[in-house]
Amino acid sequence: MTQITIALTKGRILKETLPLLASAGIIPAEDVFSSRKLVFPTNRDNVRVIILRGSDVATYVQFGAADLGVAGKDMLLEHQGDGYYEPLDLGIARCKLMTAAPVGAPQQSGRLRVATKYINVARQFYAQQGRQADLIKLYGAMELAPILDLAQEIVDIVDTGNTLKANGLEPREEIAEISSRLIVNKAAMKTKFTEVQAIIDALKEALESN
Ligand code: PRP
Repeated sequence: MTQITIALTKGRILKETLPLLASAGIIPAEDVFSSRKLVFPTNRDNVRVIILRGSDVATYVQFGAADLGVAGKDMLLEHQGDGYYEPLDLGIARCKLMTAAPVGAPQQSGRLRVATKYINVARQFYAQQGRQADLIKLYGAMELAPILDLAQEIVDIVDTGNTLKANGLEPREEIAEISSRLIVNKAAMKTKFTEVQAIIDALKEALESN
């Protein structure tokens, strides 16, 4: 039997992914939220899911360690890898990738310091804008950077905008609309076509009936 591995992004995305997977007939054999395990068998003998950080899903799928994956478009934009297709927009975990700055702060005219975990996305964005930006890589709590003067702007995900507001920041420019995507390893798409296509089709149907 051909084994299929699906890499899922933990956290907020996972909560919205599991119902969709269930509609497509794939249900982890135990509660992924209460377990410390990283690999879970499912109700389907030949399908297992692994639970990763969003930033690692594309890497597992790119190298074929996982056949399919669910990851935020923000992570895919930042990853900039190839080796996978992106056949479905799952329409979940919708938000925007934006720049943000302290409320009312004037736009910096010269060189700008920008803190973000999206270094590649930010580099491209500011270059397109013709603005010189020194990028500072952070791994979380980007909103703190302008408060402590580590940076003048940040690039981060904005959903409700509450985190920005709570830290005296405001959204400025929209870089991209974000939602979670299904990605598929290019080689698996060929060598495991029947199984992989069946999962894509089932997810597509689940999306259409939602
Ligand atoms: C994200 C993001 C913001 C927040 C935005 O963090 O980095 O901090 O959500 O949401 P809001 O606009 O509704 O306030 P998340 O909670 O996903 O944790 P992370 O820092 O680990 O990415």
